[in-house]
Amino acid sequence: MALRNVVTDGDPILRKKCREVTEVDDRIRGILDDMLETMRFNLGVGIAAPQVGIMRRMFVAEPEEGKVFYMINPKITLSEGEQEGEEGCLSVPGKAGKVKRPQHIVMEGLDYDGNPIVVDAEDFEAVVLCHEYDHLEGILYTDKCTDLRDINEDPEGEDE
Ligand code: NI
Repeated sequence: MALRNVVTDGDPILRKKCREVTEVDDRIRGILDDMLETMRFNLGVGIAAPQVGIMRRMFVAEPEEGKVFYMINPKITLSEGEQEGEEGCLSVPGKAGKVKRPQHIVMEGLDYDGNPIVVDAEDFEAVVLCHEYDHLEGILYTDKCTDLRDINEDPEGEDE
């Protein structure tokens, strides 16, 4: 595994629609491994392939520690309800904002081994999966949020 550079906002790569993965092979799995390592290194809960410069429809998410999702060629087959929560993105460092998302989704795709999976996700898990899915369409949360603002990244300011 290796860390990859994270593409940041302003790079046209983040605005392109990604293409389907045609075969889930060792090359794809190697990229997914690197994505997981890169996401964790940067303390993220999700990372999509275009964020490491790969224009393919796949992402990795870890909405809670140890619960890792690998989603390849995902489709949202059910979307209902609404919630609003705080989001950030590894590609938009130092910023956060509130975004409206569905409260409940069903997402279908392929897993790390290329087998079909169906994920039923609610609450924060649904937020993370939708955020990562948007990356594959060239959409950033900043397109949807109402109050984009700077956040204090200085750990000494944490208790403010
Ligand atoms: Ni993001």
